[in-house]
Amino acid sequence: METIRGKMSLDLDLIGLNDRLANFSRVLLDLGTGDGRYVRHLAERNPRWFVIGVDSCRENLRKHSRAKLPNALFVIANAQELPRELNGLVSHITINFPWGSLLESLLTGDSKLMCGLEAISHENASIELHLNSGALTDAGMVLETGAKKIYDNLLQAGWRMNEPGWMESRLLRSLPTTWAKRLAFGREPQAVALSGTIK
Ligand SMILES: C[S@@+](CC[C@H](N)C(=O)[O-])C[C@H]1O[C@@H](n2cnc3c(N)ncnc32)[C@H](O)[C@@H]1O
Repeated sequence: METIRGKMSLDLDLIGLNDRLANFSRVLLDLGTGDGRYVRHLAERNPRWFVIGVDSCRENLRKHSRAKLPNALFVIANAQELPRELNGLVSHITINFPWGSLLESLLTGDSKLMCGLEAISHENASIELHLNSGALTDAGMVLETGAKKIYDNLLQAGWRMNEPGWMESRLLRSLPTTWAKRLAFGREPQAVALSGTIK
């Protein structure tokens, strides 16, 4: 699979990945990671976790992927075609403020995305999503409707889901992603959190 550090792109095979993961029991994956700030934040504060950021847009990842952290990795991939090397490895998946085709696939229950999420999940894996109203308005629906659709699609795809919860702007401000900060201080700080575990 293609990984990135700064401007350098590197191919990492299963053997190389297993070497990197050797001393870590908990693997987190942030899908649609954007600039990777969240991954860097988690990796710096949790040296026993291995944190992987995945995004289809390499330009966004340049800054934070440059940090030399032994427990962080940035992968260039489409959410609908997650690399097979990740299969069965991930204990916790996060999707923060998806837009574009990632949001579209969540809303339609796209099997390529749903099967990929299941494939990368370790036994008892958990998932956490944060959705914002602006992205859903752009996708043609209100936040509650979009969140309910995604909730239903994840249920159908085999996740045991908790009831969606509103995110206060205080909660948004405390979430260390670039978009959370933008939203918290923007005009429409409305967001919903979804979480669940694999059945
Ligand atoms: C609004 S940004 C959020 C970035 C980050 N999660 C944050 O909270 O700051 C949405 C991200 O989803 C990524 N994205 C959209 N469609 C994708 C896809 N099909 N596969 C992977 N990433 C995708 C975009 O490139 C973008 O970086």
